[in-house]
Order: sequence, then C-alpha cells, then structure tokens
Amino acid sequence: MCKDAAVILRNALRPKCVDTDEAEEFLRLFQTEDPAMTDDRLRARIEEVKDEIAATGSYTHTAAELAFGATVAWRNSARCIGRLYWRGLRIRDRRQVSGARAIAAECTAHLREAGRDGRIRSTITIFAPDTVAAPGPRIWNEQLIRYAAYRTRGDSVCGDRRYLGFTDLVRQLGWTPPARRGPFDVLPLVVESEPGRPRYFELPEDAVLEVPLSHPDHPWFAEFGLRWHAVPAMSNMRLEIGGVTYPAAPFNGWYMGTEIGARNLADADRYDLLPSIAEGMGLSTRSERTLWRDRALVELTLAVQHSFDTAGVTMADHHTESRRFLTHLAREEDAGRACRADWSWIVPPVSGSQSPVFHRYYDEPDASVRPAFLPAEPIGLPAVMPDVAAQRCPFP
Ligand code: ARG
Repeated sequence: MCKDAAVILRNALRPKCVDTDEAEEFLRLFQTEDPAMTDDRLRARIEEVKDEIAATGSYTHTAAELAFGATVAWRNSARCIGRLYWRGLRIRDRRQVSGARAIAAECTAHLREAGRDGRIRSTITIFAPDTVAAPGPRIWNEQLIRYAAYRTRGDSVCGDRRYLGFTDLVRQLGWTPPARRGPFDVLPLVVESEPGRPRYFELPEDAVLEVPLSHPDHPWFAEFGLRWHAVPAMSNMRLEIGGVTYPAAPFNGWYMGTEIGARNLADADRYDLLPSIAEGMGLSTRSERTLWRDRALVELTLAVQHSFDTAGVTMADHHTESRRFLTHLAREEDAGRACRADWSWIVPPVSGSQSPVFHRYYDEPDASVRPAFLPAEPIGLPAVMPDVAAQRCPFP
C-alpha cells in the first residue's frame, strides 16, 4: 500500500465526532427557511442535537432536515447552471439500507425512478452517513452510468477514454467485459460498504435508458452507431449537511445537449469524434482556418438534441438554460441570498457569447459554504489502485 493510501485509510477509519457548531449553524439556516420552525422549537432541537452528539458523536437528521440539506447543497453548487429547479429535487431516504448488494439495488431503482422512460426527474438517493461507529458506504463510480474503455492498437482506444483507468480497476476486481466489446459498454457499479472491500454489480439493461444518435439532415450520421445514456447521475460526491457526511448520495438532473455533444463525444480525451464528423460533412481538416472543429461541434450537438427530442427524453438546450439561470439568480437575490457561480463552468462550451450568462461575472465560489456536494474519498481505492485514486479530476 502506498503512503497516501495508508493515510486516507487511517483518516477514514478514525472516528470523527460531528462539530456541534456546524450542526447548530445548519439548524439555524433550516429555521430561516422553514416558517413552521419557531424560536422555541429551534432552541429545543439544538439542545437535542447537542445531547445526541455528546452521547454518540453524531446526530440523526429528521426527514425534513435531510431534504432541506440536500436541496440547499444543490442550490450551493457553483458549477451547476440548472439550479432554477432546486426545490424540485426528489429525495430517496435510504439511510437504513446496508450491504453492497442492497445499495447497488437501490441505485438501480434510482435510475428507473429518475428515468421514467424519458420524463426525467431530479432525484437523490441518500445512504448512511459516516458515524463514529462506522464509515458510511462509498460508490467508486463517478456516475452510476459510464462507458468502459479498452486499449486497442497502439494509442487507440475503444470507448470513453476517460474511464480507461476505472475500466482497468473493475477488471482487476474481477469484472469481465462483454464478449463483443463496443464503445458503449456500461461499466458495473462498484460499491464499498465494508472499508477496503469493494464489490461490483452489473446494472440491469432495462435500468439504463439510452438514446441512439442521429442527425436531422445527415443520414450518414446514424451509421456511426453513437448513443448516450439519458440520466446523468453523479455518484462520487459526498453530501455534507450540518457537520454530517453522507459519502454515498447519488443524484441526477437531466442533460443539457452541450454536455454530450460538445464535451463527452467531442473532447480529445473522451470520444474525440470531431475529425470523423468533419469528414462526414466533407470538411477539410488540414487547416484550422476552415473552422471544421466549430462546424462539426455544432452539428454534433444538434444531433444529440434532435435525438433526445425524437426519443422523448428530457434534455435542456444551452440558450434556454442560460436564461433560466439568470432567472434563478434574480430569485435568489430577491430572497436575500448570495448565489455563487463558477463562470468557467456556467458558460456553455458552444456559442458562449450568444448566451446571456457569458456577459457578466458572479460571486466567487466559496469552498466553506455548507450544505454542499464535495468529492468523496473511496476508502479502499488508494490501496487497490493508487493511480486512479490520484486522478480526482472534476467531472465534465
Ligand atoms: N457533464 C456530466 C456528463 O456529461 C454530467 C454532470 C451533471 N449534469 C447534469 N445535467 N445534471 O455526464
């Protein structure tokens, strides 16, 4: 085991008491947004929580506190353009579920309920928190649904290049890729419910809603055989509420076309498809000055949007979502709250200057704001695979 791995394991396994100040700060925030919470009830609740922390090192959120904490963590996510809908988050309280198999089954149920045959609902499933007695479970996948990658000849890769390392890892755990490997093989879920003992589970096919991609005007486009999954469900971020950490709390919204068309399928370290699309369009890729990249990027994004629309799967477009984000900002201002935002994540990767979010700055993100979603640390990952553990890059 490398040195970092030992440190992470030791820290994760060291019993941590909940900070009573953080708990109190959260309960006070809860009161400011809950008209039913009188000063007397707040005082009583703070006392109760302090007693529980003194006795057990932690405390249990009520269902209402948990729901409030999760929705506010979303509202606080400075990188998210889709926050207008923060109140609409569906909460699946699964704090009582234990065991890797049962946790994986709940993730599958999450995907089915959130996907609803295309009418996507923002949903979060919250598993057990870290306590003094035991760390909560971890999900190692970055998202519940991601595609595997395999090295082919030389430097070539089949699949989502970003998950080469993770694909190696699940193979090391014993997963075997399908007999006929393809560019869109869904990776199994890796759940660590006992520290250092990850187990993998295949997602049932019918829980993974996917959209085959075609272009409204170019029939050749469909022949590429491209597809993408309908539900983006982040699964490697911990949810922190009032000093309590929920290390497994997968959550999803719905896609914006550019995330798939202008990033996942286009980035050079992902599917790197722009040269092929440009070729299909008959554009010369010999000189940057033909702007073949730009033209291919727009057509790819258009194909993604057209395909989701045709399949009846919820998808936002970057122009509409940009306007809605400004509505959100105005509402937050009216409510007397700061809305922090990370310009480089909020501005869409296509036609930035054509969207109103480009033409202004925002209150800077603040790492100390809570409740929040933060990168989770899989306990045993550094031991199993130090190089994957080191790549804790932000999701695209
Ligand atoms: N950008 C990520 C992806 O392409 C998803 C991040 C969350 N996106 C969302 N629309 N909720 O898979």
